Amino acid sequence: MTERVLITGVAGFIGSNLLDVLLAETNWHIDGIDNLSTGTKANIDHALGNARFQFIEGDLAQLTSLKPYTKVFHLAALPRIQPSFELVGEHITANVTRAMHLVELMIRENYFPRLVYSGSSAIYGTPQNIPTAEDEAVSCLSPYAFQKYEVEKYLELLATRYPLDYVTLRYFNPYGPRSFNPANSFNAYSSVVGIFLNRHRNRQPLLVTGDGTQRRDFVHVYDLALANLAAARHPERINTAFNVGFGSTLSVLELARMISADIEFIAKREGEADITFADTSKAQQILGWAPKHTLENYLQQELHRA
Ligand SMILES: NC(=O)c1ccc[n+]([C@@H]2O[C@H](COP(=O)([O-])OP(=O)(O)OC[C@H]3O[C@@H](n4cnc5c(N)ncnc54)[C@H](O)[C@@H]3O)[C@@H](O)[C@H]2O)c1
Repeated sequence: MTERVLITGVAGFIGSNLLDVLLAETNWHIDGIDNLSTGTKANIDHALGNARFQFIEGDLAQLTSLKPYTKVFHLAALPRIQPSFELVGEHITANVTRAMHLVELMIRENYFPRLVYSGSSAIYGTPQNIPTAEDEAVSCLSPYAFQKYEVEKYLELLATRYPLDYVTLRYFNPYGPRSFNPANSFNAYSSVVGIFLNRHRNRQPLLVTGDGTQRRDFVHVYDLALANLAAARHPERINTAFNVGFGSTLSVLELARMISADIEFIAKREGEADITFADTSKAQQILGWAPKHTLENYLQQELHRA
């Protein structure tokens, strides 16, 4: 029988790209839920006519059973560092309580589908070890980072009592199609690649925070989606976390210069790491996943279109 899987946050940047990859690479039926808080229906319009995809508009808190699904990809969140300092309670609800709703359903039904949880490299803060492996000390610089970590720890703890089956993917700095949603009120905090390209298209200067020496490991969203697929397909219950980055690092100023010469500097933002740089060897060894798409290629295509 064809498998049925669930994507939470399907109308977001990463969720909508994951949907495309699952439609292309599997024969699964896919239910996608989204409350459109930061996502937009425009991101999934192209898939709405596909008989293998069903969109559920609403909050995932309304889900009453996960029994139809063999796998659950949990991406829904309020994923922005700066707003998490202000709307703290709202972020706890979206990022922790909602994730725990899924786990509660599993416990209540005594049914444990593979859960692929979208974690974040934000939990490393500014790491001591570069490149950074999964056993790096945790150092959360923002409520958002702490909330992403809290869910990881809940999964680990609850797995000591229940037969949870999960994989955490700690994304580094994703970029790619739909990373910038002008309708999202938090869009100033989305992927810097998307923000820069959007400003360049609108003939606006690129705003670099601080002196631009902060370095990022940029990973294409298709590679992220393929990591989700590899995590979902792993034959064993592994209950562990993997870094999902490209495995190289570029400064924000270097990135800006690759896009435009029209650059302005604005104040540094607190709570953000000085460097992210993934050691991806664990994902390569255990999931058989490695990133394939380069930032240079993506920028070339996008600048050609601009
Ligand atoms: N984009 C990044 O830089 C980044 C980096 C590391 C980790 N992540 C993680 O990846 C995941 C996806 O991030 P994204 O960049 O696609 O963000 P996004 O804001 O584009 O997508 C999140 C989606 O979840 C939906 N949503 C939020 N709460 C919901 C709820 N309670 N019920 C139903 N839908 C809900 C939103 O409407 C949105 O469509 C998040 O868990 C995020 O923490 C993102």
